Amino acid sequence: MSEAILTRRVEEETLDHLREDDPRAIRSRRDLRRINRIMGSLSIMNSLLNASLARAPSHIAELGAGDGSLLLRLAKGRARTWPGVTLTLVDQQDLLSAQTRAAFSDLGWTVRAASMDVFAWLERADHPRYDAVVANLFVHHFEGDALSRLFRGIARVTDCFIACEPRRARVALLGSHLVGAIGANDVTRRDAVLSVRAGFSDRELSACWPDDGGWQLREMGARLFSHTFAAVRRVQA
Ligand SMILES: C[S@@+](CC[C@H](N)C(=O)[O-])C[C@H]1O[C@@H](n2cnc3c(N)ncnc32)[C@H](O)[C@@H]1O
Repeated sequence: MSEAILTRRVEEETLDHLREDDPRAIRSRRDLRRINRIMGSLSIMNSLLNASLARAPSHIAELGAGDGSLLLRLAKGRARTWPGVTLTLVDQQDLLSAQTRAAFSDLGWTVRAASMDVFAWLERADHPRYDAVVANLFVHHFEGDALSRLFRGIARVTDCFIACEPRRARVALLGSHLVGAIGANDVTRRDAVLSVRAGFSDRELSACWPDDGGWQLREMGARLFSHTFAAVRRVQA
């Protein structure tokens, strides 16, 4: 039986409309780093990558990457077995600090920041083939035609897409109402609830993927608060 709560509802999140240097935005991004730890986002993303990639990647892109801190934590754990990765961080805001860039560089990874709207980025003509495109707490910003368009664009540039999103379920909604308990500010408290209401359940993401039969799709809940999706192109026989 589906555990989905209510109908999916996408509303504009406050953080997306605050300037990068707004103190409330800076504080909210710090909250996000803590929330990612509580959600176990890094471990979930690592499991999805382990299950989806047959070999070490050389080029990864992250959509809606924020300040890049989640992928930096991932890189710290992976750099020895995945040397020399080129990482493209896409976000509509310019959030990659010199310190984070240097930390990637120390690990031997090259970072390119694409500070632009994801659709403008996807429409660029100069994409390499990405071994993986990943997203964390990003896909839930979209619905309807925009979500389908996003997925069509991603499917054009990679054979492996993984996403870790809010789970639209009662336990996650309860958790989102409690983020004040970890000291989250007003921006995070509002956005957390909106994110769960815009989150996913069942096979909602698979239904939007442009599947021509050539993809293996996996979609399921992870831990208490997350909903995951992986699309991997089937190897031609
Ligand atoms: C909830 S935050 C998640 C950030 C990061 N992935 C994390 O886990 O900390 C969503 C991010 O998506 C970005 N974003 C929202 N809409 C976007 C768009 N249309 N194009 C590019 N980035 C977008 C926002 O700027 C924000 O940094």
